[in-house]
Amino acid sequence: MIVDVVTLFPEMFSGAVGSSILRIAQEKGLVRINVVNLRDFSTDKHRKVDAPPYGGGAGMVIQVEPAVRAVESLRADGRGGSRLILLTPAGRKFDQAAAWALSKEKGLILLCGHYEGFDERVRTLLQPDEVSIGDYILTGGEIAALAIMDSVVRLVPGVLGSPDSLKEESFSSGGLEYPHYTRPPEFRGERVPEVLLGGDHKKVSEWRRERAAERTRESRPDLI
Ligand code: 6GU
Repeated sequence: MIVDVVTLFPEMFSGAVGSSILRIAQEKGLVRINVVNLRDFSTDKHRKVDAPPYGGGAGMVIQVEPAVRAVESLRADGRGGSRLILLTPAGRKFDQAAAWALSKEKGLILLCGHYEGFDERVRTLLQPDEVSIGDYILTGGEIAALAIMDSVVRLVPGVLGSPDSLKEESFSSGGLEYPHYTRPPEFRGERVPEVLLGGDHKKVSEWRRERAAERTRESRPDLI
């Protein structure tokens, strides 16, 4: 999978893209992450990509020309089959089902807005999918793009060393997972539940199923 991110703040990606699962996926050759500076597609001598809104009002609007040129340059460079996603709080709410769907794509182009967002003609000309990561306002799409990248890349076949963790995520079928414990068996009077130390796998499974259901009921009844 090739993930292209178009942004005014490429430096926001350097740490995350070189760490943890995103780094491993690239080292395994399963994913390529390419961060593109929108300013490289400015036609202005000062590399400006924004301007005040027609009709007046607060803030700045990202201009249509650099955005369209950036996407067209990627498409001319073998990304014709990539899914184009515009990150915006006005988009469809991202969830685990959406992450699974995106993990099957050949490529993603993630277009990050900032300020008051893009000129509307970015939408009419490029017809991107519009995606939000939740009902709150971020300063820009970059953190949303990172969240989406992380959740999608870990689902690309071969990226996770032990797919048992994925199996358990899908077994919990949308509910929360059971609580985890490791050594030591006791810390400041808090003991690991006895059933987990006993080695009766059937009893362990049953206990985990019950704790997962209980947690979901108490913390996230909306998931049931
Ligand atoms: Cl995708 N962008 C911005 N700016 N804010 C958000 C968001 C995206 N998703 C939730 N809040």
